[in-house]
Amino acid sequence: MYDPEPSSGRRVAWPSNGISEVPFRTYTDQDTYVREQERIFKGDTWHYLCLEAELTAAGDFVSTTVGEVSVLVTRDAERTVNAFVNRCIHRGNLLCMGRQGNVKKFSCMYHGWTYDLTGQLTGVAFEQGVQGKGGMAPEFRKEEHRLQKLRVEVLGGIVFGTFSDKVAGLEDWLGADVVRGLTRVMNRAPTLLGRNTQILPNNWKLYIENVKDTYHASILHLFLTTFKINKLNMPGGIFINPDGGNHYSFAKLDYEAETAAYKDEGIRAESDFRLQDRSVVESVDEYGDGVSVQILTVFPGMVLQQVRNTIAVRVIRPRGVDRTELEWIHLGFEDDDEEMTERRLRQGNLIGPAGYVAMEDGFIGGFVQRALQYNDEGAGVVMMGGHEAESQTFKASESAIRGFWKHYRALMGE
Ligand code: FES
Ligand SMILES: [Fe+2]
Repeated sequence: MYDPEPSSGRRVAWPSNGISEVPFRTYTDQDTYVREQERIFKGDTWHYLCLEAELTAAGDFVSTTVGEVSVLVTRDAERTVNAFVNRCIHRGNLLCMGRQGNVKKFSCMYHGWTYDLTGQLTGVAFEQGVQGKGGMAPEFRKEEHRLQKLRVEVLGGIVFGTFSDKVAGLEDWLGADVVRGLTRVMNRAPTLLGRNTQILPNNWKLYIENVKDTYHASILHLFLTTFKINKLNMPGGIFINPDGGNHYSFAKLDYEAETAAYKDEGIRAESDFRLQDRSVVESVDEYGDGVSVQILTVFPGMVLQQVRNTIAVRVIRPRGVDRTELEWIHLGFEDDDEEMTERRLRQGNLIGPAGYVAMEDGFIGGFVQRALQYNDEGAGVVMMGGHEAESQTFKASESAIRGFWKHYRALMGE
């Protein structure tokens, strides 16, 4: 039988102080990767599945993955959103090959078994045999078989799913702060502006750590410092839920002062570098609260970002111990006018695989992974801002990273 708790390998040893030293082997160890699929991705966690806007009509479906497991999300005739594992119960074939579409039912290409939009088995080819011979065993009942179901909840137009029967409801699990952060950005009906996917040559955890790392932004990202766009001294803070894994950080900008500074740039500029075309950063305070950057994570692998007026969901999907798929889903809102859509698209140049800013986040994990190749003893130091994983009113801190490891260790039993 398949053993989700491989006993052959050494378990990664954690230093006793908990979450401010992270063993490098956690990014390179194959047994850890297998345990993560069971304990994190199929465990007591909620995962991004799709946008509700992708399932407008009955019969609409989206194919996705939770961890490495293929999952279908549907809107049925009763308008309920369902999610179930994309694996035929007959012989385990991948049931649906499509990425997205509209269907009346799912038919398996292998032996033609069919399922309705809730995942219930509805048809078995040659169930009664042929010419009175063969057919399914008499005790077999179609009604007793269905595709493995996930629990589903929708918040802010985002469809979430979990394999767990016992994890708390989505909002309790996210925590009040993170619910507030999520619904602040997703406060009206979203539209899909586009998407792209990149492959990161590194362990999935290096990317989610990077997202939670407010420390690096003004150092690694030269675009920000060269053009004086983001500084650690902007007012802001970090909210972390009690379990540690969900968080958001935010920074405020004085929009009026920025506009004035641009007009006055001849006096204020300290470097010779200028953006000839400022439209890539010119933004409006669309939420009316002065927050220009809000980065939110949902453990283990979803990010919701507002960087000025560019809004995106990022989904981190592990594809092997040193390979990760990162999808960017660029959003607008139904009430956007043409000017706002144009603004979002221009600012979209900052993010995504080749983004002026996000580009560095896409490659830095690969450099770490290379440095760990056959050299993964010891542990990394995550002590900026202390040893705990508490919410903070400043950003020179790695507390959100420690929060990730707090939740991770609890689920992994390490
Ligand atoms: S594997 Fe799907 S019908 Fe046989
Ligand atoms: Fe970054």
